[in-house]
Amino acid sequence: MHNQILGGEIMQDNSNISSEDRDKFYKIMLVRLEGLLASETDWLANLSNAAALLYANLKDINWSGFYFIKKDELVLGPFQGKTACTRIKPGKGVCGAAVVEMKTQLVPDVHLFPGHIACDCASNSEVVVPIMKDGTVYGVLDVDSPIKDRFDELDAKYLQLFVDKLNKYIDWKQIR
Ligand code: SME
Repeated sequence: MHNQILGGEIMQDNSNISSEDRDKFYKIMLVRLEGLLASETDWLANLSNAAALLYANLKDINWSGFYFIKKDELVLGPFQGKTACTRIKPGKGVCGAAVVEMKTQLVPDVHLFPGHIACDCASNSEVVVPIMKDGTVYGVLDVDSPIKDRFDELDAKYLQLFVDKLNKYIDWKQIR
């Protein structure tokens, strides 16, 4: 397995890593997330740690975090990385597209995505998973990378499972 377990962190090494090893990596991440969520009830503490878990362990990413729908726009939530735009209208950028389409956006090259909002000019690819419960969209999980084509269907699948796990523990209505 190419994932190193260092000081409690599981670093993903994408170079020559098999999809079987990436499966194992993400499964460990989900166990770590469950451990964090099961031991704390505060949503702000939990989402802060969820953003940090991704940022500290996913290789070649420069931003991970959340936006939540408040009134009629997305507002920045807990994140790791450089300062980011604080408000995004539904339909705008990759995050706004995920909200309107209620669908994960896997963007291999953000410069080719119409209306992409560049918070960190180092970003080149991005994956955004909508946070939905009972047919309502509450926000998005956004992960950015400086590497083009950094994310694939396997990342999208496990980031969806990451959001599913958050869904089990977090009452999104508290955040609105
Ligand atoms: N790139 C996003 C904006 C959020 S930042 O990447 C953190 C977008 O186009 O919606």
